[in-house]
Amino acid sequence: MAQYIRSVRGMHDILPGDSARWHWLEARVRRLVASYGYREIRMPVVERTELFKRSIGEVTDIVEKEMYTFEDRNGESLTLRPEGTAGCVRAGIEHGLLHNQQQRLWYMGPMFRHERPQKGRYRQFHQIGVEVFGIAEPEVEAELIAMNARLWRELGIEDVRLEINSLGSPQSRAEYRERLVAYFRRHEADLDEDSRRRLDTNPLRILDSKHPDMQALIAGAPSLLDHLDLDSQAHFDALCAMLDEMAIPYRVNPRLVRGLDYYTRTVFEWITGSLGAQGTICAGGRYDGLVAQLGGRDTPAAGFALGIERLLALMRPAEDLAAADAPHAFLVPVGEGTLHRALALAEALRRDVPGLRLQTNLGGGSFKAQLKRADRSGAPYALLLGEDELAQGTLGFKPLRGQGAQETLALEAVAERLALLVSEEREATGLDA
Ligand code: HAM
Repeated sequence: MAQYIRSVRGMHDILPGDSARWHWLEARVRRLVASYGYREIRMPVVERTELFKRSIGEVTDIVEKEMYTFEDRNGESLTLRPEGTAGCVRAGIEHGLLHNQQQRLWYMGPMFRHERPQKGRYRQFHQIGVEVFGIAEPEVEAELIAMNARLWRELGIEDVRLEINSLGSPQSRAEYRERLVAYFRRHEADLDEDSRRRLDTNPLRILDSKHPDMQALIAGAPSLLDHLDLDSQAHFDALCAMLDEMAIPYRVNPRLVRGLDYYTRTVFEWITGSLGAQGTICAGGRYDGLVAQLGGRDTPAAGFALGIERLLALMRPAEDLAAADAPHAFLVPVGEGTLHRALALAEALRRDVPGLRLQTNLGGGSFKAQLKRADRSGAPYALLLGEDELAQGTLGFKPLRGQGAQETLALEAVAERLALLVSEEREATGLDA
């Protein structure tokens, strides 16, 4: 036997047993964002490398170390998207969606970062992102955060806390940066290697260092929040007041700086203690300068992205969800001439019962073998089509999970039973198919 080819490290298959949970979560999110009036946008997975350099920033971990960048056959440098904001802004500019109007957009899909894989950190992972364009006021961040809080509540996620900070305007941040560099220069001997390198390139990121020896030094550093310009301070105060009004608890963390360069003013992260080191399930903020930086007209913007894998890891595994994509019925044809009729019958049932999941036995097999397959499919009912039923235009309706005795039913009655099953399921899950 030839050796089989494995998947790429850090990139995972989502197997049939798990996909029902993904669908369920995606459907919840779809409904949530629609309830706030957001519309979906789908961008390509591949963009020009320049887009990410210009938006995320040349001196960030993502651009320096983590991008999947390659030359295509024309010699153009392309990159698998490490996040969605840059592509969303690019698409917005390109299609004239941003100028002089408000836009509320969301997207979902795979992102790629060449990080060291561990629990909750993958090289292909999935985000749901939400971006708002054209509104400079802090109620945007308030609504985005409220949307997050509502989602956690709906999903039954309790162990999660909100941290917020303001990075101020580009000017106030530049002034703060000088003060910070001066402070760290005075303590240069105490800096670890990574921080010493960042001192010249991206000193704010030193505040994000997890190095234990650096913590005392970081705690003594000047605080961003003490150096905000007046407008940014008022913006931040207003956001805090709105969160208070909505009774959304938060902690102001003046060391929260984020790993992407495009943010201005508000930044926030939702962090859980239940997932170990990779505890940030959702993060975002305001990025008023990015649209202009990417060649569009000056447009205020803010957004967030959540990590689907991390969110799913937080949700209690629900058996009924795992079973949510099992067929409602499994059709068993036995005997002369029944297969052809079964295929036609299955088509008719799918047409007449919207939302029905019906599996037909394919590839033959004895009655016993077929019933075994029916059982393994997870279906609650088997539909039996033997020579007698074929002659009478009926079906055997056989409960497979101990819900009573087998009956012989006319085709219309079978369709009615199955329709009832589908509608009961919809009611129970609270979701449309
Ligand atoms: P980010 O903080 O880089 O922000 O990523 C957002 C979320 O994606 C993280 O909080 C985490 O849940 C998930 N995530 C990131 N990297 C990985 C990974 N390697 N494995 C699994 N999950 C991961 C952004 O991407 C910004 N575009 C968010 C944003 C939108 N800001 C404004 N609008």
